[in-house]
Amino acid sequence: VDRAGLPRPLGWVDGLTEHDGAWLLWGWALPARGSAFDSIRVRRKSGESLAERAVRPELAEAAPWVRRASGGGFFAAVRPDADAGRIEVVCRRRERAVAAFATTYLPAERDPGPLPPEGLSRRVSGLSGEAFRLSGLQAFTDMWDAATRHGPGGARLRVLDWGCGCGRLARRLTRLDDVDLIGCDIDAEAVEWCAAHIDGRFTRTDPNPPLPYRDGEMDVVVASSVLTHLARLDQHAWLREIARVLAPAGLLIASAAGETAFLRSVPRPARLGPPGSILHRAAAERRRRALRRAGIVDEQPDDWLDGIAPPGYYRHVYQSREHTEREWGAAGLDVVDYVERGYHGHQDLVVLTKRA
Ligand SMILES: C[S@@+](CC[C@H](N)C(=O)[O-])C[C@H]1O[C@@H](n2cnc3c(N)ncnc32)[C@H](O)[C@@H]1O
Repeated sequence: VDRAGLPRPLGWVDGLTEHDGAWLLWGWALPARGSAFDSIRVRRKSGESLAERAVRPELAEAAPWVRRASGGGFFAAVRPDADAGRIEVVCRRRERAVAAFATTYLPAERDPGPLPPEGLSRRVSGLSGEAFRLSGLQAFTDMWDAATRHGPGGARLRVLDWGCGCGRLARRLTRLDDVDLIGCDIDAEAVEWCAAHIDGRFTRTDPNPPLPYRDGEMDVVVASSVLTHLARLDQHAWLREIARVLAPAGLLIASAAGETAFLRSVPRPARLGPPGSILHRAAAERRRRALRRAGIVDEQPDDWLDGIAPPGYYRHVYQSREHTEREWGAAGLDVVDYVERGYHGHQDLVVLTKRA
């Protein structure tokens, strides 16, 4: 859901760059069902403009259940905002805005420095280069929009990027006015890279609590794709620890791998036909129900941190919304917002405040 309360379409910004004094962006947006949108507009602080449509035949293959899906591509060249730019992609049908998503673009003078080496960026995200940069823009926008919506008070915010990896978020968080950035991770090499390239206080921490911070030291903790790798009991221990380091009414903004991530975690068997077919939808519904029944599925090892995390520690963890709201809200934190697919359009975004 974007700030105006519109649902998020399927879609993404595939490219975003500055050229000859303009911001160029391109991507795609489709509804979950029905026909492709009538038009797409790009909105930023200083104005709104119509995006050009781009025909992308691969969209018809990827979403055969959406009519005229190949027309879901867009391209826009817009005049930049003077300061850090939030860019909304607004999808319209019969002259009405019906869906939207957003990203941000930091003008050149705020551009967040060098990208990490490929080995590091792949370890934390499976991505490198331009794809890593763009996924960071999206992650940063989703997290920071949530922080703005739930507005922790205070002139300067102490923000902890817990599980910062090689700084996909940190490199942008540090550019915000009025943020003191602290980052930590169990991955010593990633932490060293952040400390050498990003303004902030970075520390290697242990896989189990405590953190080397005082009670109530942080106004905001962000956890981007971290709890999505920890088994249920480790999640509990860490949520209690995060509650300890949060100031009263402080915010935890965390991603959870919910139903969408669970559905996408297995390849689609060809025998079910294309997505949208009756067989395909029935299989998806069965999988959804299985996740709701289990609450959490946390047995599957993730070997990407072999040699860094203790054996068996790092996993692929999926959990139902109901489970997350119940269990994360039992650790001295209250869930104040839950946006399905609100993080990267793939994971769910959960906002919690420290209970008074
Ligand atoms: C999928 S990566 C995400 C990294 C970063 N947040 C991002 O979005 O690019 C998960 C990160 O969590 C870190 N991690 C796992 N368990 C942790 C823990 N208990 N404390 C701190 N970091 C942890 C891993 O080392 C890894 O860098």
